[in-house]
Amino acid sequence: MTDPAAQDPLRAELLAVALEAARRAGELLRDGRPDDLGVAATKSSAVDVVTEMDLASEKLITAFLADRRPDDGVLGEEGVSFEGTSGVQWVIDPIDGTVNYLYGRPDWAVSIAARKDGETLVGVVHAPARRETYHAVLGGGAHLDDRPLRVRPAPPFEQALIGTGFGYVAERRARQAEVVRLLLPRVRDIRRGGSAAIDLCDVAAGRLDAYYERGLNPWDFAAGDLVAREAGALTGGRPGQALSGELTVAGPPGLFEPLQAFLEEQGAWHD
Ligand code: IPD
Repeated sequence: MTDPAAQDPLRAELLAVALEAARRAGELLRDGRPDDLGVAATKSSAVDVVTEMDLASEKLITAFLADRRPDDGVLGEEGVSFEGTSGVQWVIDPIDGTVNYLYGRPDWAVSIAARKDGETLVGVVHAPARRETYHAVLGGGAHLDDRPLRVRPAPPFEQALIGTGFGYVAERRARQAEVVRLLLPRVRDIRRGGSAAIDLCDVAAGRLDAYYERGLNPWDFAAGDLVAREAGALTGGRPGQALSGELTVAGPPGLFEPLQAFLEEQGAWHD
């Protein structure tokens, strides 16, 4: 049942702003992608890339938010970070799945979340090349375009299709590969989509049974986490802890717990 708080005018306004910002950024990214798109800069390693389009998308979103919600704070992947005075903070990933975008693969998204008092109120994950927009409002459910989303009921662990992702630094990847080596023989299969935001939405839409990853940043998971939770998923980090850069786990009740326990046992939360 929809929580009456989901009807509050602030949430409705934040959702409308997030949807419009994501739509505009998505249009820029889809129509403005140069054929010879290259790497503009690197971050944590030589394969952690930024393109000119990540920067242009963040600029567009930041300018739009400044116009519509001038008193809010913003935290963005490509460096924008400031506090506002309204108590609302936007958490934005101008392209989640940059490597997919660079290679012309479809799984990339604009991810925009609005938080207040430590809670994510609204999340939008717009994936133009998939022609899909996911959104969620705290207490108001999750949707793919207009369709309400519900997670797939938990299968037995050995029949689960599990999504995951890898960091950009070799030492971390070596450890992540070790966890996958142990998990793969125990489950139906593993998927590595390349966008954490879309992976979380895929859990919400029943396209994955569950998802986990170590090393995400708030802009990777803020919007997708709300979409997954509002579709009925449990999300968290290590047992008893909130999801964080250390570990992100999402899945339906009945699968979330054994997956989280497996990841704890294998030390998937450290390098
Ligand atoms: C990355 C994607 C990827 C995940 C990485 C993230 P970016 O975000 O979400 O799926 O495995 O950990 O850094 O760099 O494309 O915004």
